[in-house]
Amino acid sequence: MSPPARKPRHVAIIMDGNGRWAERRHRPRSLGHRAGARAVRVCLEFCLAEGTESLTLFAFSSENWNRPAEEVGALMKLFLRLLDHEVDELDRRKVRIRFIGERSGFPADIQGKMARAEAQTANNRAITLNIAASYGGRWDIVRAARALAEDVAAGRIAPTQIDEALFGQSLSLAGQAEPDLFIRTGGDTRISNFLLWQLAYTELWFTETLWPDLDDATLRQAFDDFAARERRFGLTSAQVATEAE
Ligand code: FPP
Repeated sequence: MSPPARKPRHVAIIMDGNGRWAERRHRPRSLGHRAGARAVRVCLEFCLAEGTESLTLFAFSSENWNRPAEEVGALMKLFLRLLDHEVDELDRRKVRIRFIGERSGFPADIQGKMARAEAQTANNRAITLNIAASYGGRWDIVRAARALAEDVAAGRIAPTQIDEALFGQSLSLAGQAEPDLFIRTGGDTRISNFLLWQLAYTELWFTETLWPDLDDATLRQAFDDFAARERRFGLTSAQVATEAE
């Protein structure tokens, strides 16, 4: 009997290529983002069918605020529309929605709808969908460091208690499995200030496919490549083989 296929428990994705997808069609970049939202559904359905526990999507980086005002405005409109029209369906599918990032930068109506979406879906267990919005990996680490520094200053913990485990508990995504598989579409091979701490042992997978063109075949290839990789976490191959017995 062949061993069960190794599946990623947590998949983290940089959804890149929306702008180029639209530009190749001589259409505004905002159309690429709308097409990108359709690809999110494809990806979510695939992960639900695979039994993935967590899916983390980089929807808007800390740096994306510096894009032309027109594009930022179109993205805000899209986020608002998705929050208005998609949350009930996600809730019905038992998707738990979480937002990670500095949400104070968003307009008040978006912040309110983010909080409502989280509350409405808090008890769902089919999959956790983490949406990184106004997120940066460095922001996440600095925020955790500041929280721990405040705990030390207030006498709640001693500096010697700060270790990797406690630090990890202060970061976004605390309590979820660490990402097993990182996917970036759009051809660039960078992490771009995504989950800097959390990706320490994650398998990285890159594709030229532009995000709006994402399909099941591309995701299948990523999952199959992941299943074929040997994850050593700093050990030797022999040690990994012994541990698996
Ligand atoms: C990167 O492509 C994509 C974004 C900055 C926005 C991502 C947003 C969505 C896919 C829609 C909504 C999704 C959720 C989960 C709410 P790019 O514009 O940098 O593409 P380019 O590199 O071709 O210019």
